[in-house]
Amino acid sequence: MHRNRTLIRGDNYIEMQHLSDASVDLIATDPPFNSKRDYFVPFRDDQGREPDTLVKAFTDTWTWGDAAAEAYDALLMEVGGQVGDTMEGLRKFLKETPMMAYLVMMGIRIVEMHRILKDTGSLYLHCDPTASHYLKIMLDAVFGTKHFRNEIIWHYQMGTAPKTAFGRKHDTIFFYNKSDKSKFTRQSKPVVNPARYKFTDEDGRKYDVNGVGKRYYLDEGQTCDDVWTYVQEKQYQQLNPQAKEKTGYPTQKPVELYKRIIAASSNEGDLVLDPFCGCGTTLMAAESLNRHWIGIDLTYLAIGAVNQQFDRMFPQHRDSVTIAGTPENAAQALALAQTDHQGFEEWCITHVLHFKSNAKKVADGGIDGTFRFPIGKVKGKQEYGRVVAQVKGGSYTLGHIRDFRTAMQNDGADLGVFVVTSPPSSGMRTEASRAGIYRHPFLNMEAPALQIYEIQDYFEGNLPTLPFGERSLL
Ligand SMILES: C[S@@+](CC[C@H](N)C(=O)[O-])C[C@H]1O[C@@H](n2cnc3c(N)ncnc32)[C@H](O)[C@@H]1O
Repeated sequence: MHRNRTLIRGDNYIEMQHLSDASVDLIATDPPFNSKRDYFVPFRDDQGREPDTLVKAFTDTWTWGDAAAEAYDALLMEVGGQVGDTMEGLRKFLKETPMMAYLVMMGIRIVEMHRILKDTGSLYLHCDPTASHYLKIMLDAVFGTKHFRNEIIWHYQMGTAPKTAFGRKHDTIFFYNKSDKSKFTRQSKPVVNPARYKFTDEDGRKYDVNGVGKRYYLDEGQTCDDVWTYVQEKQYQQLNPQAKEKTGYPTQKPVELYKRIIAASSNEGDLVLDPFCGCGTTLMAAESLNRHWIGIDLTYLAIGAVNQQFDRMFPQHRDSVTIAGTPENAAQALALAQTDHQGFEEWCITHVLHFKSNAKKVADGGIDGTFRFPIGKVKGKQEYGRVVAQVKGGSYTLGHIRDFRTAMQNDGADLGVFVVTSPPSSGMRTEASRAGIYRHPFLNMEAPALQIYEIQDYFEGNLPTLPFGERSLL
């Protein structure tokens, strides 16, 4: 049995294996496109102007290595049939290139998606012309050409035009059914220019006259075809003001785009899955149409962003999201620290402390996360104090504490949190106490400026002593 409103932090290939055969009604997903780029989340400066920090959200660069070779073998040996033949053919042509690595990574996941879909289910796979031609061949192999329904062109206006080619202004969304029993409800789009319908008949219905005869303006709009233009996107934006929807997560898609998909291929109460959920566009669309949903993403940053976005868009259901795949007790936290250093750091910074993660492109100077808090106005301008954090998932020494104190000084931070997995020695405590005591200018609050925080304390409900402030992920 699935649990509605579940977010899973993990690799979707592994996580989808935990879902039963034929258990999902609709998969609507937007995986990385093999764009050969890293995607960053810009943090604005204090006045919300230029980005001053870039936090890596996810990488979309692929190389052929052991993981790709293993996935390729699995597609040939375990899946075999048409899928194996297709992969073999693609490899002959593409060789062991980054594109082939990307395709085998997608191939093993598309096979899983097909397995977990119900017979009445459908898949919508969002991609772009970088790899869409190869992905369609793979989708044909897994779902069968007779279950291909549409290649939807989503035409948008953003971006610049190249000098040597026409502007590249569309994404492709492939729509496949699991079987001939799949659900579909026709969708309508608003009429682009209702002013054209200038006549009104005796029943009060508006119409236009063209060469063939009367053309009625339908209140519900025109039936959607497979080209979804930016005109509609503008209308989407009018329906959903950007301010409410925009999270700053790179590659975020409009909720209305996914609402159309979900309305067309599922019913109320159905289960919608997005295994590459990013900041949760599919999930927000599913919630607003009373569908159940599960989202999976590899990064804590994305999972945190979905959780925040959900609370913002559906405050009436605040705190009803279940987050799986994150440590639930001290033993799991320690295991994460041992097996996935970066994941542990990201979890401590974004989930435990609710600081901004500092996974910068350039060297971070020993600071993994930051947080600021208001300390009053000077000449009408808000001033902020600053807290920095460093996470040490393994063993640490007195020298590490000293270096962190220096990093705090270099940064101009008022407070520092040094997150550890084992208790400090008395010498380390003394070293930390050399940073002194921080006193807030107007709150009745004082605390050691450098706090060594054992992650075990988190599971006992204790957090470092810090002033109130702006904690957010994005
Ligand atoms: C193009 S973005 C999705 C954006 C999303 N549609 C939105 O509107 O926010 C792709 C996402 O897939 C995630 N991802 C990449 N590989 C993954 C994997 N193996 N398992 C789960 N998530 C993965 C990335 O972290 C990224 O958030």
